[in-house]
Amino acid sequence: CRVRNYKFNVVLRNSTKLCSTKQIVTVNGKFPGPTLYAREDDNVIVKVVNHVKYNVSIHWHGVRQIRTGWSDGPAYITQCPIQPGQSYIYNFTLTGQRGTLLWHAHILWLRSTVHGALVILPKRGVPYPFPAPHKEVVIVLAEWWKADTENVINQALKAGLAPNVSDAHTINGHPGPVSNCSSQKGYTLPVQSGKTYLLRIINAALNEELFFKIAGHKLTVVEVDALYVKPFKIDTILVAPGQTTNVLLTADQNSGKYLVAASTFMDSPIAVDNVTATATLHYSGTLSTTQTTPTKTPPINATQVANNFTNSLKSLNSKKYPAQVPLKIDHHLFFTVGLGVNPCPTCKAGNGSRVVASVNNVTFVMPTTALLQAHFFNISGVFTTDFPANPPHSYNFSGAPPTNLQTTNGTKVYRLAYNSTVQLILQDTGIIAPENHPVHLHGFNFFQVGRGIGNYNATTDSKNFNLVDPVERNTIGVPSGGWVAIRFRADNPGVWFMHCHLEVHTTWGLKMAFLVDNGKGPNQSLLPPPKDLPKC
Ligand code: C2O
Repeated sequence: CRVRNYKFNVVLRNSTKLCSTKQIVTVNGKFPGPTLYAREDDNVIVKVVNHVKYNVSIHWHGVRQIRTGWSDGPAYITQCPIQPGQSYIYNFTLTGQRGTLLWHAHILWLRSTVHGALVILPKRGVPYPFPAPHKEVVIVLAEWWKADTENVINQALKAGLAPNVSDAHTINGHPGPVSNCSSQKGYTLPVQSGKTYLLRIINAALNEELFFKIAGHKLTVVEVDALYVKPFKIDTILVAPGQTTNVLLTADQNSGKYLVAASTFMDSPIAVDNVTATATLHYSGTLSTTQTTPTKTPPINATQVANNFTNSLKSLNSKKYPAQVPLKIDHHLFFTVGLGVNPCPTCKAGNGSRVVASVNNVTFVMPTTALLQAHFFNISGVFTTDFPANPPHSYNFSGAPPTNLQTTNGTKVYRLAYNSTVQLILQDTGIIAPENHPVHLHGFNFFQVGRGIGNYNATTDSKNFNLVDPVERNTIGVPSGGWVAIRFRADNPGVWFMHCHLEVHTTWGLKMAFLVDNGKGPNQSLLPPPKDLPKC
């Protein structure tokens, strides 16, 4: 195993898109940010230096961070932010992990421009469980606002309303040609006829689940969230914010240009952002004047297309990559996730109310000391351990307001014994808008053993759980008006954030944390914090 050293300078840069220029926060002046390469079991060391006026922290999304929660990154959960002029060294090992992940800022809305790919190759000499591709290509999907994203969310919070949606989506930094701005070129993916490519597709957008497709070509899905799946062929994939999908693309045409498109799924009907980002698949030898073969993207509410993809996902579950689904469960948890409305006398635009979000009717309040520090140093008064294991009120996904809307503010965690096993039902009670909630758990991968629409029924639904080869991931779409059942083993001591990866829902409080105690054996406790851990 090698040590991979990287330096991330967080700097401002001017960027022009959609014919308008603004300053953005970047890593090393790049949008998307630099791709970080490593191999399984490598030690990654990234020195992050903050040269901007905002507080910064970086999260390595999907990296398990076994015993190294100090390098996980969510601000006020595992660390205090890196203040302007300060630096912090993230130091972690990619134990047993390979595949495509992403890194992103984990504070405020800086993730809109501070993100990039994390490519973990298999150990030297270890082949993929599928034919070796001719080339590998990273595809980062994101959103673009003409306005400053910190202003977008701050204005929304003041008013108590939903923030403005983005002005465009991007594929590797480019929205593609848009009607009222002719200078805008899109990203080009060059291919040779007859060759196969591994596309590492990442959704780094703040608030949009995205469909992705390529005209005239099928995609063979081989991996999600850095975990191998049983390969299957499909036209359109769905990637939620925080998720990654690896597909094999065979350039099985002779020549030509084909449209690559990323479009929104299930956006809030309140403010529909349906701008499709486009790029071009370009066969070598094809003249640039050749017409691009178009493709029709699914409509925004194409639940069937989404389900087609989601329901096809199964763990590879081979001899070499077995699915180790926990069968005996210690903690049976049931969390509702959804939006609600709370009184806010100062919110003029919101008519005296504000949008909030919650997990089990708790709207999470960010502490001012990082939870992990409070836990490690026994600082009292930062959090409480009374996060409810079950919904405190009766729930109904289609329940009319105000029955499901009352939330209490709190900085509550749910405590787990080391190595205990957890089954967690995530039930959407989405009252306001029919949106999926891509829920991300830090520090673990989990198996999705069940999924359904409507209210979860413990007696009948649990009978149909897949305990053999369920898909394993780190971010799961809780379907609008439905539920998912996930299982994981709490074998990683520390404090682990769980939240909706639609940034606006996180901001509104759809977040909580698990506290996993140290085990008694050797190598079962959280390591002490590094010396340069930022102070609050
Ligand atoms: Cu990718 Cu807590 O985030």
